[in-house]
Amino acid sequence: MSDGEDSETVVRRERFAGGPARSFLSSMEFDDRLFEADLAVDRAHVVMLAEQDIIDTADAGAILDALDDVEHEGFEALPDGEDIHEAIETAVIERVGPEGGRMHTARSRNDEVAACLRYQYRAALLEAVDTVVAAREALCEVAEEHTETVMPGYTHLQPAQPTTVAHWALSYEAALARDTERLLDAFDRTNRSPLGSAAFAGTPFDVDRERTAELLGFESVLANSMDAVSARDFLVEGSAAFAGLATTLSGLAEDLVVFANKGFVELDDDYASTSSIMPQKKNPDTLELVRSTAGDAYGGLQGLLTTLKGLPRAYNRDLQNASPHAWRVADAVVEATDVAAGAVATAEWPAEDLEAAAGEGFSTATGVADLLAMHGIPFRTAHEVVATAAERGADYDALDSACEDVLGEGIDSLAEREAVEAALDPTASVASRDSAGGPAPEAVAETLAAALEGCEAHADAATARADSLAAAEEVLVEEVASYV
Ligand code: ARG
Repeated sequence: MSDGEDSETVVRRERFAGGPARSFLSSMEFDDRLFEADLAVDRAHVVMLAEQDIIDTADAGAILDALDDVEHEGFEALPDGEDIHEAIETAVIERVGPEGGRMHTARSRNDEVAACLRYQYRAALLEAVDTVVAAREALCEVAEEHTETVMPGYTHLQPAQPTTVAHWALSYEAALARDTERLLDAFDRTNRSPLGSAAFAGTPFDVDRERTAELLGFESVLANSMDAVSARDFLVEGSAAFAGLATTLSGLAEDLVVFANKGFVELDDDYASTSSIMPQKKNPDTLELVRSTAGDAYGGLQGLLTTLKGLPRAYNRDLQNASPHAWRVADAVVEATDVAAGAVATAEWPAEDLEAAAGEGFSTATGVADLLAMHGIPFRTAHEVVATAAERGADYDALDSACEDVLGEGIDSLAEREAVEAALDPTASVASRDSAGGPAPEAVAETLAAALEGCEAHADAATARADSLAAAEEVLVEEVASYV
């Protein structure tokens, strides 16, 4: 940015030009990400002012021309300013002369910044949706390939029941599908226009709020002008959605770290790291960092909420410090999602080792109890039989002797030996659990088909929103072209 002695006098004149708190006041450090947004908001506002005969078309043309030039020169070339809104206005006035100052008719930086934030945040949310859908597709691919790959399933991190890699992968897909829904919901409440509210109290000019909303692709207008400039709940909602997503990712990452430790998954070298001293090490550092991103997300959400708490109506400068929390959360979580997807997509699942481990810790015990219950024994009694057998070796003979002791009859009086042996076998045990959403290959096939449909629906939902933003942008470009 150029040293702004002269430019500073354009918008601020001599007052408030500097002083020791100058850089403390400035948001320029974070405002680069609002550059495109501010140009669009300025253009839409100026087009609307001209259409409403609030400014004449010659002034509108000169301002829009200057904005093109400002865009071409880039953010770094902007004059100094307290924030990007002031800097761009100064740059326009430098090019156009005092008439350039008409661009700020019937608005304030308060509705301007709120519009810029919503404009930019909605793009971040759509990018996040695309990234999460890609991660879900990676999980679906793993599921497709490993529908029959039996592995141990855990509760309390203790061997519990055998399941499959596909069932595990789709469990995270399902959670990420809800995370996607929350991001899309946040998009819909973000995509509303505060423009035309001015400082908070409206304006005597005959502004057309619907028109600026339309030119910027906003779905609707935030009616109450005091609310419109004050509201940052869209950042809270979005950041909460990101925090939920980060929670899902942290579980996925933790599972992969544990599985890598047990030799159940082989991470690609691109998603692992080594030790500077221990030559044999292959560490799942990347996933540890994905796991840690939840800390960034919760910290950012907490920072955002704490900044917003108790603010009086209407605009307060605290709000300037609210949005960086939201950007940091979005950046961190989108990056972690992308990395997690890459780790999942490139990992190898050693089917034989997984299958060998699937029966560990008598993980088929529940299935044997289910079998006895299916043959008429009350489940609680069947539970006792199998618990007794577990202490005696957890095989057919152990079950037989446990049946004798608990029920007073051998197991062969209840079930065929073949059925008992099948219940003890991890692969057959998995195949038997074919309830909807369960791990049996047919059940997983149905879950997978629904998951793939869900991915497509969410990808389409994001595309439809992006298309409607692109269509609005095209109209804005055409309108601007008719003035310059
Ligand atoms: N940079 C400010 C922000 O991000 C813009 C609004 C300044 N408005 C004001 N009344 N001082 O919130």
